[in-house]
Amino acid sequence: MLVTQTPLLQHFWYPVMPVADLAEGPKPFRLLGRDLVLWIDGEGQPAALDDRCCHRLARLSKGFYANGVLACGYHGWEYDRQGVVVRVPQRPVDRQGRTSMGVTSHRADIRYGYVWVALADPLTAIPEFEEEPAGFRQIFEFYEPWSCAGLRLMENSFDNAHFAFVHRASFGDQGHPEPAKLEIDEFPDGFLFRSEVPVRNPEAQKALLNMDSDTTVRHMRARWYAPFLRKLRITYPNGLIHSIVTAATPIDDQHSMVCQWVYRSDTEADAPAENVIAFDRVVTSEDKEILESTTWDVPLDQTGVEMNMPSDKPGVMMRRILLRLIDEYQAQQPVAAE
Ligand code: FES
Ligand SMILES: [Fe+2]
Repeated sequence: MLVTQTPLLQHFWYPVMPVADLAEGPKPFRLLGRDLVLWIDGEGQPAALDDRCCHRLARLSKGFYANGVLACGYHGWEYDRQGVVVRVPQRPVDRQGRTSMGVTSHRADIRYGYVWVALADPLTAIPEFEEEPAGFRQIFEFYEPWSCAGLRLMENSFDNAHFAFVHRASFGDQGHPEPAKLEIDEFPDGFLFRSEVPVRNPEAQKALLNMDSDTTVRHMRARWYAPFLRKLRITYPNGLIHSIVTAATPIDDQHSMVCQWVYRSDTEADAPAENVIAFDRVVTSEDKEILESTTWDVPLDQTGVEMNMPSDKPGVMMRRILLRLIDEYQAQQPVAAE
């Protein structure tokens, strides 16, 4: 799937950058091939504008914060979060004020410590995660670009057949390559996947899980939100809950920004965040290594291109749901005049 050529994908919210990264000034981000400047105004509200000043087309992401708005770094024209030029410093004081000049602005919101952006009317809301009202602690893990299609990363996270091989050095059990059974409930914008996966419990994990046994079982409930967001909630036999939110925000056809954070039902004293991140770093790097070797133009209609096995059901379902959403979207578009 070529993300930059699939207009439907503009109609979703994506987490694009941790809010904390914007404390000192604006930053650039490429979303679906479109260059944006992200920033936070004096009222703490997020903004996403096209990253070109309307004066001499300098990048606004080279600018700075002034008077609670964004100033271009070239001649200092000031923009509010709607993208309107509200001050031209070169003008005399009696001619200052909001102008009719400006740049395109996009929907921006703040949730879960991230700025989220949608380039067109979103089809779905930013998901509500039950762990937040439950008071679980949140641990920020990774914010890094991968040379990989978002769909590849998404299907990998619902793939019970890869643990024994990709994760053979961490928790995978090569002696048991048979994938665990899974059940799926389909929704209009994704699905809920349930599975119970027996895994090894290596030394590094024993302390984090507060369990001494050499093996354990992951009770997994994972929700896929089309197109590139999933939350995996793992419950261990001792009641510990470890939920992982992973977004593969589409930078362009070949690159995804991996945004990952975790919710834990235990405390910092039970398992220090630093150790939780260190273990997930190993596991995530194992996935990254293999996923960056896959092709980035993912065929949605798989006929004859990729072979499947039963454990690929979630990935096959993702493609089917995306194809349906694309078809529905195209059917709603006005027919171009001859
Ligand atoms: S290029 Fe931005 S103010 Fe001149
Ligand atoms: Fe994996």
